[in-house]
Amino acid sequence: MRLVFLGPPGAGKGTQAREVAGKTGVPHVSTGDMFRAEVTAGTELGLRVKSIMDGGDLVSDDVVLEVVRSRLGKCDVEGGYLLDGFPRTLVQARGLDGIAAQQNRPLDHVVYFDLDDQMVISRLSGRRSCPACGEPYHIESLKPRTEGICDKCSTELIQRDDDRPDTVKNRLDVYKQQTAELIDYYRKKELLRRVGADGSVQQVRAGVFEALGVG
Ligand code: AP5
Repeated sequence: MRLVFLGPPGAGKGTQAREVAGKTGVPHVSTGDMFRAEVTAGTELGLRVKSIMDGGDLVSDDVVLEVVRSRLGKCDVEGGYLLDGFPRTLVQARGLDGIAAQQNRPLDHVVYFDLDDQMVISRLSGRRSCPACGEPYHIESLKPRTEGICDKCSTELIQRDDDRPDTVKNRLDVYKQQTAELIDYYRKKELLRRVGADGSVQQVRAGVFEALGVG
């Protein structure tokens, strides 16, 4: 399966991508996670993208496309991939079309996580993340077993710099200005599967699996 998870920041794409990847074995490819890994490792790319990410703006299309093209050239994604947080602009969507055509491996589904602004703000302001393994938590809806500690790898949880209130507002604006038009783009291609993202993690998971036809 070749999938794209599309939707506003904090809609639960990463949470559900981990579930789907775990169940189907399809590799989870998150551009946000890839850039955060570069920042943590202090690479040249990491240094370039850090302030852009902290401000809630988008990394330039040419940089993103170069990173994704290289990732989709690896052997582990020959049988499929789940793209989370990419594409985010029309240029990126057309770039992905080009990669898919070149590889002769078209997309199967684009899952659109539909969530209103108030819920986005509440999800992001309460999110805590594991800086080591990336596992997401929430101070109310998805608490770790021990407060402040990751269940999976026992690392101390953090609040992402881009989850602070001013940045969240900008991320939402950027989503509306640059990413939301992809909903129509993929609807016209008959790839769009809308999932209401305002239920519990389990309810949303059921909606995603139903949309993908995975039992
Ligand atoms: P990225 O990491 O992709 O951020 P995002 O798209 O804004 O998505 P998030 O990770 O914030 O949210 P999510 O939808 O995965 O929600 P989650 O599952 O964590 O990108 C970060 C930055 O990198 C960008 O701003 C940009 O600078 C750069 N970047 C990345 N890709 C790029 C690209 N293609 N082009 C240009 N720049 C790019 O859930 C959120 C919270 O809600 C968690 O606390 C979770 O526990 C909780 N939650 C989840 N589901 C539920 C539920 N059903 N009920 C209750 N709580 C829930």
